[in-house]
Amino acid sequence: MKNTKLRHFINLSEIESTDLKQIITNAHILKNDLNSSTNEYSKLASKKSIAMMFEKPSTRTRVSFEVAINQLGASSLFLPAGETQLGRGETVSDTAHVLSRYVNAIIIRSSNHTDLIEFANNATIPVINGLSDLNHPCQIMADIMTFEEKIGSIQGKKIAWCGDGNNVANTWIEASDKFNFELHLACPDDLQPSVSITEAAKKKNGKIFLTSIPEKAIENADCVITDTWASMGDKNTERKKQLLQPFQVNNDLMKIASPNAIFMHCLPAHRGEEVTEEVIDGQQSVIWDEAENRLHVQKAIIAWCMGMKV
Ligand code: CP
Ligand code: NVA
Repeated sequence: MKNTKLRHFINLSEIESTDLKQIITNAHILKNDLNSSTNEYSKLASKKSIAMMFEKPSTRTRVSFEVAINQLGASSLFLPAGETQLGRGETVSDTAHVLSRYVNAIIIRSSNHTDLIEFANNATIPVINGLSDLNHPCQIMADIMTFEEKIGSIQGKKIAWCGDGNNVANTWIEASDKFNFELHLACPDDLQPSVSITEAAKKKNGKIFLTSIPEKAIENADCVITDTWASMGDKNTERKKQLLQPFQVNNDLMKIASPNAIFMHCLPAHRGEEVTEEVIDGQQSVIWDEAENRLHVQKAIIAWCMGMKV
């Protein structure tokens, strides 16, 4: 039976704006604490066990969560989903019931967002979305933290997405009304972000503008973002790549953004496809800080889900 008191971290749209902002504030605290001599949060989650069950490959999410868990004093277990009995047909709900008896929280990377929801509906522990086909909330929390470090509050700023209307784009849409910034997305007509996520965010006063003209989205933007043209599990990637050719982020596009604009990419990147080498390895790119901040923000997400005070 669904336990509504649990704090899952699955969609930004379902979490209060004040909680999301507090998580980012806490992430800054935890980042500073890690580099301090006292390191007072090193036992915050001691004696807890946190599992990570992944159906898809991962470098950043897996490593940053595993290190985050260890730095909070908890122990981590990595479970490739296909090597559990899920791979032999055990149901998602039975797996959720059983794992809830062993571990205190779980991070799931899932090919089907509906499986993630089914797991959460049957779990008695917090479930954190480590990427699904529909969204990637931990990534956008790290991105907003990075924006704050480089530029300041994201409220009222112009954020531009240029490329595929994928899971990462969907999560930026969910974030726009929670953090109150303007989001301009340039995507090919056939590769628009989720209609239901866009409509829901617009209804809540999200300032979301869709276009198929990159220059329109990027003009005077404070931040330019793109992502791979072929996400994990995508079909018909050759057609997608053809449609996305005019959406490559290059120096000409960066020149029309605000002069102080930053460039973000969740990685992994494909230089020469969605972004040129000169942009991703150039002065406006903040990709390494963005990747690092996954570690800090995810500690704050774990603490929020588990009701631990930072
Ligand atoms: N950005 C991100 O989630 O990277 P991984 O797929 O390597 O985890
Ligand atoms: N959109 C990409 C993000 C990878 C972190 C994918 O889903 O593969």
